[in-house]
Amino acid sequence: MLGFNFFSKEQWEVSSIPDLTGRVAIVTGGNTGLGYITVRELARKGARVYMLSRTETRALAAIAKIRKELDSELKPELEYIKFDLLSLKSAKEAAEEFMRREKRLDILVNNAGIMATPYELGPDGIEIQACNGTGHFALTVSLLPLLKETAAMPDSHVRIVNVTSAGYLFAHMEKPNFTSLEALNQKAWSTWGRYGLSKLTNILFTNELQKRFAESGITNIYCLSVHPGAVNTELTRGPLQSWPFLAPLWSLAKLLTMTPEQGALTQLYAATSPEIEEKDLKAALLFPIAQTKSKSSLAKDKDGKLGGDFWTLCEALIRQKA
Ligand SMILES: NC(=O)c1ccc[n+]([C@@H]2O[C@H](COP(=O)([O-])OP(=O)(O)OC[C@H]3O[C@@H](n4cnc5c(N)ncnc54)[C@H](OP(=O)(O)O)[C@@H]3O)[C@@H](O)[C@H]2O)c1
Repeated sequence: MLGFNFFSKEQWEVSSIPDLTGRVAIVTGGNTGLGYITVRELARKGARVYMLSRTETRALAAIAKIRKELDSELKPELEYIKFDLLSLKSAKEAAEEFMRREKRLDILVNNAGIMATPYELGPDGIEIQACNGTGHFALTVSLLPLLKETAAMPDSHVRIVNVTSAGYLFAHMEKPNFTSLEALNQKAWSTWGRYGLSKLTNILFTNELQKRFAESGITNIYCLSVHPGAVNTELTRGPLQSWPFLAPLWSLAKLLTMTPEQGALTQLYAATSPEIEEKDLKAALLFPIAQTKSKSSLAKDKDGKLGGDFWTLCEALIRQKA
């Protein structure tokens, strides 16, 4: 189920988000779309929320808009740190800046992303859609010391939410591997194949992260992958760049999609609901709305080879570029 609104049965509401006073959260790409709603709803419940975005003016305008939308008595705690998914150095620096400013990190929502853009290499020589995976790897791994410290605090509920897509299945049309930068960049694949590959890496990263926490005896950090559904956001900027003549078709398709408010529910559920711990949903894949979904065999990655190779490749890239 891709999440078209006429199939979706809402079973979880933002009103179910528990009180988040005293908690600190990061949402990447929070200035529009799903990220914007995620920032707003976490802040509404009292979390101090950092919007990590690439464009300061867009981030500050979004923060001002959220302040207007929320009851002024709430005094939402909203902060901005510059973060460019395309640059491993930027991701590392954003994490360092955050750790200079905060003593805890309870919720990390790796949400930013692009879809179906024309082939292009970013500043580190990584294909720009592949950066959906590598940029969030660099940010998260740099934040691990603080995430672990937070998990050791009393009454902690640490969550790492990687926003993937049902489109990860597009990667199945090819034979993915992560043994080299070329294999990650995949110039010969279609743009949908490259999007699928990047969204597969979001899931493989979730699996591998959870496995590594378990191996080091950490059982109270929950890592989740979330497909938000088909949602009316600015994500169509990519396909419009690839096929401008299809603009009327995308406008029609938007009529079938969920609103950003509906689409953000599953990642908000993953980030905050006590059910995640009650049901022990470690490394789970969630589909709209707030439902577990079984992973394809590729995404299950039973022997951990794909996830392990992706991790090793990202570490090598960070050593070279960041
Ligand atoms: N919408 C859907 O139907 C759908 C379906 C499945 C999965 N998803 C996933 O949901 C996530 C959110 O997408 P959305 O639908 O909310 O799209 P959106 O409205 O286009 O928002 C994407 C966000 O990511 C940010 N971003 C893009 N490139 C970036 C970069 N290089 N550095 C930092 N931030 C960057 C954008 O910032 P700017 O505003 O500066 O560009 C924006 O804040 C994505 O990971 C997407 O793959 C969406």
